[in-house]
Amino acid sequence: MEKVFALPNGEELVASVLGPGEGRGTTAVQHEVYSFLTRPFDPWMVPTEGGFLAEFLAGTHDPSLADTMLVGRIDGTVVGTAWHGTDRDLPEMGGYGFVFTEPEQRGKGIAQRLTELSINGFWAVGGQVSYLGTVNPVAQHIYEKHGYRHYNGLTYRALRPGTDADTFDETFFGRAGDGVIRDIRLGDIGAYTGLVMLLEPAEWIVRDYTEAMFYAPPVQASGCLRPFFNSMTRHAASPANAWKVLVNDRGRLVASANLWAPTHAPVAANATMEFQAAPAYVDRASAVIEAALEDAAANDVRAVRACGVGEARLAVLREAGFVEEVVQPGALDLGDQRVDVTVMRRDLG
Ligand SMILES: CC(C)(COP(=O)(O)OP(=O)(O)OC[C@H]1O[C@@H](n2cnc3c(N)ncnc32)[C@H](O)[C@@H]1OP(=O)(O)O)[C@@H](O)C(=O)NCCC(=O)NCCS
Repeated sequence: MEKVFALPNGEELVASVLGPGEGRGTTAVQHEVYSFLTRPFDPWMVPTEGGFLAEFLAGTHDPSLADTMLVGRIDGTVVGTAWHGTDRDLPEMGGYGFVFTEPEQRGKGIAQRLTELSINGFWAVGGQVSYLGTVNPVAQHIYEKHGYRHYNGLTYRALRPGTDADTFDETFFGRAGDGVIRDIRLGDIGAYTGLVMLLEPAEWIVRDYTEAMFYAPPVQASGCLRPFFNSMTRHAASPANAWKVLVNDRGRLVASANLWAPTHAPVAANATMEFQAAPAYVDRASAVIEAALEDAAANDVRAVRACGVGEARLAVLREAGFVEEVVQPGALDLGDQRVDVTVMRRDLG
């Protein structure tokens, strides 16, 4: 779909909205967008993000992802981009990113037009919530104008118009059966981001130690969708990096456990694990962990370590057969206090 906007300065912005599978390939058109976004002479994204972007533009990614690429042009030249990804089968939760406007074209309203097209397109396919992360005040201003509200850390979320923000998490991530365990997939990008950033259980504090994501403002993650891309890259790099998720009867992702084993042979049998669960599924977290550990053990992982701060999270690890290995005094700086980090370990026989 193409939409033409008259910008306030009189120029014409032609916005291409490329739905899932549309306009993808490795021709000069996609190369232009790739170079525009990655800025080879002035890079602003990490290599893992560039790698996924290449797949999204080429259309070679895991088909569970339904992604929309938005490209704005003035006089035929790319001046702005944006991207939104959701799940192909259940497009309820999405992630927004790759928002960039050519420096000389900023302030003309380009990002606002693309953001409006993106979020309206998501509501049209049944979207319930869209997440993004930014510390850029200009971007924050734009997102807030289009329904995104500050959520947690550097995360913003937009809820489907008419949704009650105060009760959304409890309702949306509520109990609906015991759930089934499956592998993570790219279409989970919005769902996983939502799970990691959930405000509850607040006492868990550690959400993803490797990606420095904690529920303890003002400590902030490196980026909103970035941790997903980083973890997915590790997952794809080795079968030892198992990643299992729990999906409830409504198809919603409610718990997750992922492992990261170093690739260097002398230490490859030692993995680090991250895990999250919605409050209504904390009792199922150990089952998800167990499933991830089974995969890892089959791929020669022998010892798995996970960090916790506070009894609630450590209790889940104990239930999953982990024992305390060491307490690192004051290892986590929460801004207003330093807290002990407990490293738990489970040997896989
Ligand atoms: C963020 C970015 C995409 C904005 O693109 P843009 O096309 O210039 O944005 P627009 O012209 O649509 O809108 C700019 C808005 O920000 C406002 N603005 C400008 N400076 C601002 C500031 N310091 N603080 C808050 N708002 C500001 C403008 O007034 C305008 O809003 P208005 O129309 O309500 O007056 C662009 O600056 C960019 O590419 N930055 C680098 C990449 C980046 O940070 N991307 C976002 C990552 S998630």
